[in-house]
Amino acid sequence: MEQRRIMGHFATGVTVVTTWYEDKPHGMTANAVASLSLDPPLVLVSVDVKAQMNTSLKASACFAVNILTVEQEELSVRFAKHGPKDFSDIAYRAGTTGSPVFEQALAYVDCRVTNILPGGDHDIFIGEIVAGGTGEGRPLVFYEGQYGSLSG
Ligand SMILES: Cc1cc2nc3c(=O)[nH]c(=O)nc-3n(C[C@H](O)[C@H](O)[C@H](O)COP(=O)(O)O)c2cc1C
Repeated sequence: MEQRRIMGHFATGVTVVTTWYEDKPHGMTANAVASLSLDPPLVLVSVDVKAQMNTSLKASACFAVNILTVEQEELSVRFAKHGPKDFSDIAYRAGTTGSPVFEQALAYVDCRVTNILPGGDHDIFIGEIVAGGTGEGRPLVFYEGQYGSLSG
């Protein structure tokens, strides 16, 4: 699709958005993530209406955005597959909302959903940040459908 090809030139970081659903951790790779407002502190994530994460977020009303390091490319691939995800080898803890926060994330924000707006075949989940932090490492980058890292 032309839009996908054109917008693929917008280099982004890569995140795994996490929450709990039916007593299981759930995660989805996402780069349609933005810092929306500083006062109040809001972020947004755009989630496909067909993704399991869409159902999960509507049920849990909270999520963490885990920003990945270049060492975590495999997690990005893993969490981009539809369906239940394997968390067994991931070191994570419950954030303030209970959402899974990856110990090795480059940075994270933990959010409560304050609003859900329709956006075509996606929904825009707006989350108020209730906690956050930064870790160590270099960011994983996504550009023209490929993973990369920052040079220099
Ligand atoms: C780099 C990358 C970024 C992605 N960003 C998003 C996104 O922002 N929103 C979205 O709905 N899907 C995004 N996806 C696709 C989802 O990760 C994918 O549909 C996933 O299978 C959804 O899992 P689920 O249906 O189990 O929730 C992205 C995939 C990749 C590889």
